[in-house]
Amino acid sequence: MKIVIGSDHGGFRLKSFLIHALTLKGHEVEDLGTDSSDHAVDYPDFAAAVAHKVVADPTTLGVVICGTGIGASIAANKVAGVRCALVHDGYTARMAREHNDANVLALGGRTTAEEVALDCVVTWLNAIYQGGRHQPRLDKIAALECPLGSAGK
Ligand code: RB5
Repeated sequence: MKIVIGSDHGGFRLKSFLIHALTLKGHEVEDLGTDSSDHAVDYPDFAAAVAHKVVADPTTLGVVICGTGIGASIAANKVAGVRCALVHDGYTARMAREHNDANVLALGGRTTAEEVALDCVVTWLNAIYQGGRHQPRLDKIAALECPLGSAGK
C-alpha cells in the first residue's frame, strides 16, 4: 500500500518517525513535507497536498499530522472525496477503516506517543471496510459534498 504523509512543524518529529518505521515494514511512503520543526508553517498546506494526492489515486492512503491532529483533519476533510479521521488509539484507528472507510488518518504530534501512533497507522492499514449498513452513511457524507445538497433524502 502506498502512503502519502504530510505534517506541519508540530507534526514533523512524529512524521519522521512514522516514515522510518513504515518503510522498515515494507510500505512505500511519500513525504510531502514539511521538512523541519524549526520554523512554523501552516497545516492546511500539507493536509491539502496529502488530500489531493489521495483523491487523485484511490490506491493511495494518506496520513496528516499537526500538533493535535485537529487542524490537519479539518483541512483534509474540506477536499471532496476525503474521509479523514482523527484517531488516538488502536480502537479508533480500526473503526475509522471498518465503519468509516477513512482514506486519510490524522494524528497529533504533540498528543500521541510514537509507538501509539505507529499502532494506529498499522491497525488502520490492516483493517478492512465492512460495507453493509455503513455504506448508506458514507453515501450521505458524499452527498454533503454536492453543491445542490442531496443529503437527507
Ligand atoms: C501549530 O502550533 C498548531 O496550531 C497546529 O500544529 C495544530 O495543532 C492545529 O490544529
